[in-house]
Amino acid sequence: MDVLEQLKAVKLMPLYTATDLTILDQVAEVLITHHVPFIEVTFRSDLAGQAIKKLSEYPELVVGAGTVTTIDQAEEAVRNGAKFIVTPAISRPVVEYCLKENVPIIPGTATPRDIQIALEYGLDTVKFFPANIYGGIKALKALSGPFPQVKFLPTGGVNEENLKEYLDLDAVVAVGGSFILSEKAVLKDNGQTAKAHLGEIVQAISSITR
Ligand code: 3PG
Repeated sequence: MDVLEQLKAVKLMPLYTATDLTILDQVAEVLITHHVPFIEVTFRSDLAGQAIKKLSEYPELVVGAGTVTTIDQAEEAVRNGAKFIVTPAISRPVVEYCLKENVPIIPGTATPRDIQIALEYGLDTVKFFPANIYGGIKALKALSGPFPQVKFLPTGGVNEENLKEYLDLDAVVAVGGSFILSEKAVLKDNGQTAKAHLGEIVQAISSITR
């Protein structure tokens, strides 16, 4: 199964910023316990490359890089084992690098123009960010009119309260965000709170069958 097919089945893309490399085993354990293989490690910290490398040691996980805005970051991510790249905005250089290297990329979009550019590169799964600011569910419904073939990964303001509403849309392949698994929660009590929290999220979406 390729990354995008798998994402469709799992429906969750945890966005994780690492500032402490010593707790990554606990992070992996939380994800593996609940059969959530995805983790998008953001380039919002200098430890992104090292965190991707460490988490990639777990065969159960599908580790990718997020907040990628430059080719250098994309290269660093791939060198350290990233299996996919997510960007906050559509970047032609980063998209072209990923296509050349055959690395799945989910480019960030917020407008019809961004989506059009993604489609021109043959990419029909895009991130929709920041979802809450750019119109949320109403915007996704409107965008699906002219772009029925596009699948969205909304992030930004997606949370425990609204994730089901997003996932009820056929156009939504998965939801992403920092609400799924945070470093803070893992640090709190050796991952117990984080584990319980992810368990609740997984349970909440278990009734969605598509
Ligand atoms: C992203 O880069 O996808 C967002 O910053 C995630 O937003 P969130 O922190 O509201 O989940």
